[in-house]
Amino acid sequence: MSNNKFYITTPIYYVNAKPHIGHTYTSVAADCLARFHRLIGDEVFFLTGTDEHGAKIEEKAREAGMEPKIFVDGIAAQFKEAWQLMNISNDNFIRTTDESHKAAIQKALTFMHEKGDIYLGEYKGLYCRGCEQFKSEKDLVDGRCPDHKTVPEEMSEKTYMFKMSKYADEILARIESGEFEILPMERRNEILSFYKNEGLNDVSFSRENVKWGIPVPWDESQTVYVWADAFLNYLTGLGWDGAANGGHSKFWPADVHFMSRDIIRVHATIWPAMLLSLGLELPKKIFSHGFFMIDGQKMSKSLGNVISPQDLVARYGVDASRYLLLAAVPFGNDGDIGYAKFDEMYNAHLANGIGNLAARVSNLLETNGIETELAEVEISDFKEYAAAIERLSFDEALKIVNAMVSAADMRLTETKPWKMTEKSDVAGVLVPIAQNILSIGYLLRPFMPEAAEKIIKAFSEKQIRKIEPLFLRLVK
Ligand code: MSP
Repeated sequence: MSNNKFYITTPIYYVNAKPHIGHTYTSVAADCLARFHRLIGDEVFFLTGTDEHGAKIEEKAREAGMEPKIFVDGIAAQFKEAWQLMNISNDNFIRTTDESHKAAIQKALTFMHEKGDIYLGEYKGLYCRGCEQFKSEKDLVDGRCPDHKTVPEEMSEKTYMFKMSKYADEILARIESGEFEILPMERRNEILSFYKNEGLNDVSFSRENVKWGIPVPWDESQTVYVWADAFLNYLTGLGWDGAANGGHSKFWPADVHFMSRDIIRVHATIWPAMLLSLGLELPKKIFSHGFFMIDGQKMSKSLGNVISPQDLVARYGVDASRYLLLAAVPFGNDGDIGYAKFDEMYNAHLANGIGNLAARVSNLLETNGIETELAEVEISDFKEYAAAIERLSFDEALKIVNAMVSAADMRLTETKPWKMTEKSDVAGVLVPIAQNILSIGYLLRPFMPEAAEKIIKAFSEKQIRKIEPLFLRLVK
């Protein structure tokens, strides 16, 4: 048991679109890690939420013919529901339209302004609405944003600038020393070369033409830039009121911020610069997992290939959906997924794997009237498994569990206890296997909480009885 505090976050998701499999991936991975840390005795705070201001959302609300607040309330509720459906165990759900969040942002920015880190300027540049970011020519491919395939707009306006450049050397030093860790290595190297080749310019922190945002407290003709508003969720979500140099809960600094590579650079530049300006500690680690493609294509409404968490659950159930997301791709790599791949994994790993093993062994124990007294299981005793999760290799942790399933299957095939006549011989084979299944149940808890509890419950009885099927085979 480790008894450390552990603070983990997902990005706060934009409410311009409904939750899809990409958001679900981040939330499930973060949930798995949060559950693992709770199980090893850590005091965990797990935060997720929604990012609700800015031009992009203002525009979506207009398209939908709705007041922005009504519009964001609707989609934020859908995110909440999706995470309940997926059994996400977040400790708080922060919305950037929460009054307490808005007040904290105003307080923090006032401090930064008074300190001289925010100054009035004029910004000219190319702006991508999809990213809600200014772009340099180098960021573009054939003049277009590589993520949104759109030509950024020329923008020039009066704006308050954040003196990000002031903090470049300090952040770079902390990345290099490992105090501020960026993972995987490939992403860290990209960020390091960004610092070395391009460096940090000051960044526009307010908008004149965007009404749907938090008013700049000393100049209400401007609203706060959506990313400046968004980053501080990681503190306001803990109850922070915007005070510089402290005032936050014991959970800060975050142990890890999860996200995908689309937003790692802003998390490695603007976010630490804001924290340094506010005299607060930097997060310990930011981790970027890969981007999902669906059957080789980018997910998009126009292609009609968007997979929602509800679609997944309808086909596989909650536990299996969680499993498939985490087993499909090495965490950190980009991945190509789709129903064909998921169906195959579902049958091989779950229906024919752990599900079948638990059913066969529990059935044999019941029909042979074999009583067991299995030992309690501490997941931290499974060193390789625990190490895999600690280095965020969820897929590898699952490979270890699956290898245990295969070894038990193999042992059954070799020894054929159903052909044995002596009860003690049958017990000699089945009891150790039952112990392994109980261990597997414990190891699956962070991944598939409900199925794992069913295994643990069934295999903790003195007289184990035939377990209900955990994963029905898919009918084609
Ligand atoms: N609102 C910002 C984040 C602010 S955090 C201070 C934002 N929101 S988002 O809704 O666009 O979510 C981006 C995140 O969703 C990604 O970083 C990733 O965690 C997840 N994903 C969205 N699409 C994804 C894939 N296709 N594949 C994997 N993850 C994806 O950016």
